[in-house]
Amino acid sequence: METPATAVPAAPAPRSAPAVTVAVDGPSGTGKSSTSKAVAARLGFRYLDTGAQYRAITWWMVKHGVDIADPAGIAAAAGKPDIVSGTDPAAPTITVDGVDVSVPIRTPEVTAKVSAVSAVPEVRARITGIQRSIAAAADLGIVVEGRDIGTTVLPGADVKIFLTASPEARAARRSGELGGADLAGTREALVKRDAADSGRKTSPLAKAADATEVDTTELTLDEVVERVVALVGEKRAAK
Ligand code: DC
Repeated sequence: METPATAVPAAPAPRSAPAVTVAVDGPSGTGKSSTSKAVAARLGFRYLDTGAQYRAITWWMVKHGVDIADPAGIAAAAGKPDIVSGTDPAAPTITVDGVDVSVPIRTPEVTAKVSAVSAVPEVRARITGIQRSIAAAADLGIVVEGRDIGTTVLPGADVKIFLTASPEARAARRSGELGGADLAGTREALVKRDAADSGRKTSPLAKAADATEVDTTELTLDEVVERVVALVGEKRAAK
């Protein structure tokens, strides 16, 4: 049976609160996390890593023996884990049922399974709800990084950035983060995960029509941060 693509509820009406919302989307290895944390720290904003939330729910499914090949089983369990994200850009945290999972959510096992779990509409609806509450509670501003923030989670975001980079640059960065892991293997895994994330029915990885695309292949982190901070400055001046 086909799952309706409407499982993620529509975004709430825009708030009148002064918080500035910045959506940073793009595939893995484009510098989303480093950029988003640095921008949030510079501006005194909160920071939310939505990939960590999808990894956390995947970790919980694995730990509780839920079959990753069974979307109905995943859907039935989607409401169970209590996922809490700490949004200080200098020290972001993630817990599941009170347990710090910041390290175990980065294992190859979770990385290999996260696309299947995050494709389940009930999982997306649950996590999207948590993300919108966190964004609504940010009093000054928040930088939210992910795959569907500008398109689905916060379609009314003040600033939308879509980061890209060549597969070679992305694999080199990711392999560096993993302590020099095999480059060809890392590239293959990245391309496979992007295809799964871009091809799913419910809120796939996609650039919002009104997002600014930044190709980070030839840019330093500081250069990317400067661009995003400048865009936020322009929007704030116009608000
Ligand atoms: O950013 P990351 O590599 O930690 O993300 C892990 C996975 O989570 C990614 O492969 C797809 C999924 N994800 C998603 O579906 N939607 C988001 N907003 C963020 C991540």
